[in-house]
Amino acid sequence: MDRQDWVARPGRPLRGRVRVPGDKSVSHRALMLGALAEGETRIHGFLEGADTVATARILEQMGVRIEAPTPGVRHVHGVGLHGLRAPEGPLDCGNSGTGMRLLAGLLAGQAFDSELVGDRSLSTRPMRRVVDPLGAMGARIGTADGGVPPLRIQGGQPLLGTDHVLAVASAQVKSALLLAGLYADGRTSVVEPRPTRDYTERMLAAFGWPVEWSPGRAALGGGHRLVATDVEVPGDFSSAAFFLVAATVVPGSDLLLTGVGLDPRRTGLLEALRRMGADIEVLAARSRAGTETADLRVRHAPLSGIEVPEALVPDMIDEFPALFVAAACARGETVVRGAAELRVKESDRIAAMAVGLRELGATVDEAPDGAVIRGPLSRGGTVEALGDHRIAMALAVAAQCTPAPVRVRDVANVATSFPGFASLAAGAGMGLAEEPAPE
Ligand code: S3P
Repeated sequence: MDRQDWVARPGRPLRGRVRVPGDKSVSHRALMLGALAEGETRIHGFLEGADTVATARILEQMGVRIEAPTPGVRHVHGVGLHGLRAPEGPLDCGNSGTGMRLLAGLLAGQAFDSELVGDRSLSTRPMRRVVDPLGAMGARIGTADGGVPPLRIQGGQPLLGTDHVLAVASAQVKSALLLAGLYADGRTSVVEPRPTRDYTERMLAAFGWPVEWSPGRAALGGGHRLVATDVEVPGDFSSAAFFLVAATVVPGSDLLLTGVGLDPRRTGLLEALRRMGADIEVLAARSRAGTETADLRVRHAPLSGIEVPEALVPDMIDEFPALFVAAACARGETVVRGAAELRVKESDRIAAMAVGLRELGATVDEAPDGAVIRGPLSRGGTVEALGDHRIAMALAVAAQCTPAPVRVRDVANVATSFPGFASLAAGAGMGLAEEPAPE
C-alpha cells in the first residue's frame, strides 16, 4: 500500500447527516458463517474494508462462491460445514486480527492443512491466546517464534469439546473457540473474565445452531448444521465514535449519525462521553433480527475529565483512541486503567496516542495498562498514525482542536475499517485533506 498522509486542521462545525460503513465484526462473521452454511446467505450493509475483503478472498480460496452484485452487498453460496476445499497457498488476513483469530478456530476443524499469514503489524500480534486453547481441544497449530503469525494449521485432527476459562476478555478468542466447537465432539464452553461482544453467539443462533449464552459465558455442542440466512449489518459504532467525539469537541456542531449498531457490548464510549458531559441523544432505536440500531444526534458540549470505570473497558476497547482525544479536549484529567489490551492492537495504542497527543501539546502519563491524559491541545505539528487506522482517525479528530495544522502520517490503513473516512469527515465539516506522503 502506498504511504499516504492527511493534513488536518480546524474546519467548520460538524453538521448534517452521516452514515458510517457497516460493522466490521458483523461483516467478518456473516461471511464465515455464510460460507459454512447450507444455502445462500445475503449480506446487506457489508463493510467494503480491506479487512473484511481479505476474509472474503480467503473463503473464496477454499472454494466458496461469493458474489458482490453492488457495493455493500454479498451473496455467499454456502458449502456446508464440511464443504471447504484445501487452499493452494497461504491465506492472507492482511491487517486483520479478527480475521486471523476467528479463521484459526474455523480451520482447526478442517480435514486439510492451511497457513494464515498477515501484514507487518499482524505478524507481531499475539496468537498463543488462540493457539493454546485450540490445542487443548486437539488442534495442532504452529506459530513463528514468540507465538506470532504465520499460523500453520494441521488438518485432520479430531477436536474434543472443552471447557475454557479465558485469562483475557477477548471476543476474538471466544469466537475462535466456538467456531472450533462446531467441529468438536461434545460440548465447548467459554467463560470470560468480563463480558465481550456476542455477535458470534447471536449469529450462530440466527443460522440455526443451538447456542447457550449469557454475558461472560457461551457454550455449544458439535453435530448440528448451519442454515443460510440473510444478515443486515448495522453501521459500525467504532467508526461512528470518531464523529461522536469530533462533533462533541467542535463548537457549534449538531450532527446526526444514522443507522448505528448499538450492541450493549460495544457502546461503552457512549457512557464514558456522557459522564464527561457530552450531549448525545439516541433516536429512532429499533431492533431487527436481534440487532439494535439507532440514530445518534450529537451536539457540541464542554467536557470534563473522568476516571473511566474499568468495567467499561471491554465495551469500548476499540474506542480508546477516540476517548483519548476527548480527554485531551476536556477540562481536568482523565484516567484510563485496566486497558493493557490496547498495547497489542494494530499498534500499541497507548504509546501511539501518548506520543501523538504530546506532540500536539497535551500531557499524557503512560502506565502499563492505561494513561492519565490532560489537555489542552495547544499546537499543531506532525504526528504518526503508525499504519493503525484508528490512531489515524483519532489524530485527525484531535487536529480539529489545535491552533495550527497537523500532518498525520501513514494513514492508508484507514481503508481496513473505514474506506472513505476523509471525504465523509470533510463533508461533515472537519478540516481534512489527503496528501501524498513526501518522498
Ligand atoms: C473484535 C474483538 C476485539 C476488537 C476487534 C474486533 C471482534 O478484539 O478489538 O477490533 O470482532 O471479535 P478482542 O476481542 O481481541 O479484544
